[in-house]
Amino acid sequence: MAGRVQDKVVLVTGAGGGLGRGFCRSLAAEGAIVVATDRDLRLAEAAAAEANGTALPLDVTEDGAWAAAIAAVTERFGRLDGLVNNAGVAILKSIEETTLADWRLTIGVNLDGVFLGCKHAIGLMKATGGSIVNVSSVSGLIGGHNLAAYNASKGGVRLLTKSVALHCARAGYGIRCNSVHPSFVDTPMVDAMIAGTDDPERARQRLVRQVPLGRIATPEDIAPLVLYLLSDESRFVTGSEMVVDGGVTAG
Ligand SMILES: NC(=O)c1ccc[n+]([C@@H]2O[C@H](COP(=O)([O-])OP(=O)(O)OC[C@H]3O[C@@H](n4cnc5c(N)ncnc54)[C@H](O)[C@@H]3O)[C@@H](O)[C@H]2O)c1
Repeated sequence: MAGRVQDKVVLVTGAGGGLGRGFCRSLAAEGAIVVATDRDLRLAEAAAAEANGTALPLDVTEDGAWAAAIAAVTERFGRLDGLVNNAGVAILKSIEETTLADWRLTIGVNLDGVFLGCKHAIGLMKATGGSIVNVSSVSGLIGGHNLAAYNASKGGVRLLTKSVALHCARAGYGIRCNSVHPSFVDTPMVDAMIAGTDDPERARQRLVRQVPLGRIATPEDIAPLVLYLLSDESRFVTGSEMVVDGGVTAG
């Protein structure tokens, strides 16, 4: 039986992290041809191995690296049906604590990276159409006292997504673009945040208490939404901000 994204060529950035690996696995299980990319090639290779896919090195902040990755996809597959702009970094600091270097790193990966990804992918995708999924966060919808740069980057992704969606619709490219907004997910990113606190167990419990559904998500809780947006089931969905947060932003 054909999968929900059968034979679609899908590139995932930051594929070696917790969410990226989960996305690659679920895409492969539904028939996609996965191109797993990461700044760290060994992590990309591990993700590709689980998804029977291809690994490429890609630092999303580098224009030239994007050009090389898209050229490799063009040469190997001749088309790109899906892009998941997933690579991201988080620094837990208030506006007063955030240095200019923190700000530039966060905006560089989380916002410049998504900008470059959309720009480069559209060049190839517009020949055949496709779907771009930008991984934002609940932090792109609501603020946090210690998330100054992260909030700014993820809020930027939310509205950049809408501009890309409207441009592609107007141009008649057949490219859709949507953002997804998870709350806390059990990945190395959250592990690092918790590990950096005085009392990691209490910090974890504090996160759990913020989630009406009473737990931290797993990558498998988020992957079905990304799968949906990459599949043709979402053919009339573009410019949307899709929340998958256990109820965090409902109250
Ligand atoms: N984990 C959460 O609670 C959570 C919640 C909401 C949104 N998100 C978002 O989901 C995405 C994935 O997060 P995760 O939790 O899997 O994080 P993670 O730290 O587990 O993985 C991030 C991956 O991105 C890669 N990366 C970092 N900088 C890069 C760069 N410049 N170029 C290419 N790759 C780079 C890392 O090597 C790593 O493999 C991020 O955009 C994050 O902001 C995460």
